Amino acid sequence: MEKFVFFGGKGGVGKTTVSCAYALKCANAGQRTLVVSTDPAHSTSDVFDQQFGDDPAAVDGHENLWAMEIDPDQEVERHMQDIRRRMTEQVSAAIVNEIDRQIELAHRTPGAYEAALFDRFIQVMREADDFDRVVFDTSPTGGTLRLLALPDFLGEWIERLVQKRAKSVDLFEKAAIGEKEARRKIDEDPLIAHLQGRKETFEFAGRTLREESAFFLVLNPDELSVRETERSVAEMGDQGLSVDGLVVNKVTPAPDDDDRGRGGRYLRDRVATERERIERVREDFDEPVVAEIESRVREVKGDLLAAVAAELEI
Ligand SMILES: Nc1ncnc2c1ncn2[C@@H]1O[C@H](COP(=O)(O)OP(=O)(O)O)[C@@H](O)[C@H]1O
Ligand SMILES: [Mg+2]
Repeated sequence: MEKFVFFGGKGGVGKTTVSCAYALKCANAGQRTLVVSTDPAHSTSDVFDQQFGDDPAAVDGHENLWAMEIDPDQEVERHMQDIRRRMTEQVSAAIVNEIDRQIELAHRTPGAYEAALFDRFIQVMREADDFDRVVFDTSPTGGTLRLLALPDFLGEWIERLVQKRAKSVDLFEKAAIGEKEARRKIDEDPLIAHLQGRKETFEFAGRTLREESAFFLVLNPDELSVRETERSVAEMGDQGLSVDGLVVNKVTPAPDDDDRGRGGRYLRDRVATERERIERVREDFDEPVVAEIESRVREVKGDLLAAVAAELEI
């Protein structure tokens, strides 16, 4: 089994719940497991009734289990500060204000949010030596997936920049006004070094996601969720990532046979519709359905989490 496991899907389908259940299952099997949450709304902190922060912390009452929560807003802010710092080191004070404005604008797009989160994911993957397994309660989508093509673009860009720099150094030397150090400086150019660093980071991410990661999509037994899942599978396929399995969550439990009341009838119809849908998912998708998890009356935490974990055949 791959070291990194991602549970993707639309908001509310049960990614956080399933991730925590799966992490618990891994931990109980003796693997040192870290579960990484990114959702400020309902998160690992709610599931385990314990506050988690930006660094892995042991989950009380469970062996081999750690959790951390990434705050996307904080990541975007960090990202922005980072770029600002680097830019202001390299440009004249006169245009710093204008640059500030541009950076602000750029970071108010939804893509920036995703990009900053993805950067943090990569960092977590890089620093995961202490763990046998790392479970993410979300999966890269859309814009983030396209970032995986970045090394190719950056490669070309860096190449061209280096050539341009070499040419101007040449000119300086011919005019005999160049400093002797000029040529050596190409290698030390902070911009080129930075781009090189980014390129390596995304190469690492692409490689790790393709070779050391497993992806599961969580869905609910309703039309919208099924269609969404089809789209996600296709989107990931475009980037050379394959989905390993589907988790159908919030499946309506069947009523007792002798329940002839209105509630019973409703449930029976609902169960029949969902059955049909799940059958169709099993037939239409190449990816296997690895779990069907029933809807519980209450939020999934505590003992319920262990029960859900037992239903996962991953
Ligand atoms: N099988 C289930 N039965 C009952 N409630 C569930 C189930 N799975 C998830 N929930 C509840 O649904 C809500 C959304 O689940 P969550 O795991 O936070 O979804 P996501 O992370 O995809 O947004 C939570 O309140 C959670 O407790
Ligand atoms: Mg969540």
